Amino acid sequence: PQELHDRIDQLIRDVEDFPKPGIVFKDISPLLADHDGFTAVVNGLAAAALDEAGEPRVDKVLGIEARGFILAAPVALRLRTGFVPVRKAGKLPGPTHAVSYALEYGEATLEMHQDAIEPGDKVLVVDDVLATGGTVNATKELVEACGGEVIAVAVLMDLSFLPGREALGETPLHSLYTI
Ligand code: PRP
Ligand code: MG
Repeated sequence: PQELHDRIDQLIRDVEDFPKPGIVFKDISPLLADHDGFTAVVNGLAAAALDEAGEPRVDKVLGIEARGFILAAPVALRLRTGFVPVRKAGKLPGPTHAVSYALEYGEATLEMHQDAIEPGDKVLVVDDVLATGGTVNATKELVEACGGEVIAVAVLMDLSFLPGREALGETPLHSLYTI
């Protein structure tokens, strides 16, 4: 909705030349620090997993380390589900599933506990930003390795000049703010 879009617009801060020259970083810190703004964002993300009667239609909410954790945990509470962390390599005590994906330079690996998702579980994936889609797609593979299904991806922000939305394929994207 326009109202939520405008509120986000007022509360995110453009930081030029971060983390590298020529990049304008969208800093969500002021939005997180604003109780009403943070609440509106959490409710907006949770809406991706509510049915027409307003009932949750997921078994788990997944958050992606690190910035995804900030948003996904309150969304899980809002949806009355559990929270599952998807972590960078080597952080979980295991046994885990692991998926590697390409970065601009090099490669990254994400892990999730094998018993975090039951076969047949429906899952909402939450992250702050969808850029190339590499992070979210690796997370989808982790869910599928457990026999679960990602019913939607919810992000605060997506970058329309990058192919993240296309990279998601059939999985619905629920983005609160498109750049
Ligand atoms: C950022 C952001 C998303 C991801 C989006 O995370 O928080 O998770 O990049 O990019 P993609 O769609 O191209 O994969 P990053 O790995 O930089 O680290 P952080 O969340 O730990 O800060
Ligand atoms: Mg991240």
